[in-house]
Amino acid sequence: MKTLTLYEQLKEKLYNVVPDAELYLKAQIAEEVLQWKTKRNALILGHNYMEPALFYSVPDYTGDSLKLAKLAMETDKPIIVFCGVRFMAETAKILNPEKMVLLPSLKAGCSLAESISAEEVRKLKAQYPGVPVVCYINTYAEVKAESDVCCTSSNAAAVVEALKSDTVIFIPDEYLAKNVAKETGRHVIVPTKHPERLKDTEVEYVLIGWHGKCEVHEKFTVEDIEAVRKQFSDVVVLAHPECHPDVVAAADFSGSTAAMMRYVSESNAKRYLLLTECSMADNVAAANPDKEMVRLCSVRCPHMNQITLEDTRNALKYLQYEIQIDKAILEKAAQSLKRMFALTG
Ligand code: 13P
Ligand code: SF4
Repeated sequence: MKTLTLYEQLKEKLYNVVPDAELYLKAQIAEEVLQWKTKRNALILGHNYMEPALFYSVPDYTGDSLKLAKLAMETDKPIIVFCGVRFMAETAKILNPEKMVLLPSLKAGCSLAESISAEEVRKLKAQYPGVPVVCYINTYAEVKAESDVCCTSSNAAAVVEALKSDTVIFIPDEYLAKNVAKETGRHVIVPTKHPERLKDTEVEYVLIGWHGKCEVHEKFTVEDIEAVRKQFSDVVVLAHPECHPDVVAAADFSGSTAAMMRYVSESNAKRYLLLTECSMADNVAAANPDKEMVRLCSVRCPHMNQITLEDTRNALKYLQYEIQIDKAILEKAAQSLKRMFALTG
């Protein structure tokens, strides 16, 4: 039997997602990436938001932040290339201090990670002495180093519950904090937004939040959902927990990127609206050719979209851009990640 070329394999998978001429060119670059991957004995991890031609060609593994962090710990390859954003590559480095971790673009940031500094966490801790700090994985190493435990969109509520503390500082995503508060029966205070509510602690369980937002997910509205439901009455709406709580409440399901992918593949419904980065809807559409994705593609993550096949090839060819973290910060940040694994598995 004839073995299919990479282009032919991608064409079979992506025929209704990527135009053929574009796919042909991308398959050629993907071939180069694979050659360099072998030459360098590297592991490539790809987040679920990577564009389809990359997502389905070069990563050894794809997944959400939690799965990729776990996989980063398991490899024996000396080099990890992270097709995702900087906080994800930093997480891989924190968990593998001896390995070389490469991020293909220096522009792959994250509005949440940039919303809080280590100094601001120290101030919060001084304001609320003894209160445990949970930081979302979408933070930089310095912030993880100041936190007691990390969490991801897959396990945020479980981490908060596992701490068994009436009051928890939860940073930096205001909407995720509000969604977790709802799930765990807590009251949220965002001191930077409402300093007058600082003493508002008569309630039994409190989450002290921050004002960070995901610049992608904050744009989705309840009106978007209503408009799509009006057009397609059978649509199933899935929203990432970085969306506003009203959006999450109006959706049929909320979960991490991996949980949303799983939901679509396991459900029998015909049509879905994914309120998250648009490339993921392309990846889900390719994996579920019998199901239709309604896409709101005006909302894109400018950071995830920096990672291209060309940059991934160059990362391997020129060994760029290597993640470097100060040893003392790395060791403290590792504690917050390890505590997350210890609390939730
Ligand atoms: P997940 O951990 O759900 O993949 O989310 C990462 C992210 O940055 C979503 O915007
Ligand atoms: Fe950050 Fe939002 Fe982009 Fe995810 S989608 S990487 S949270 S800016």
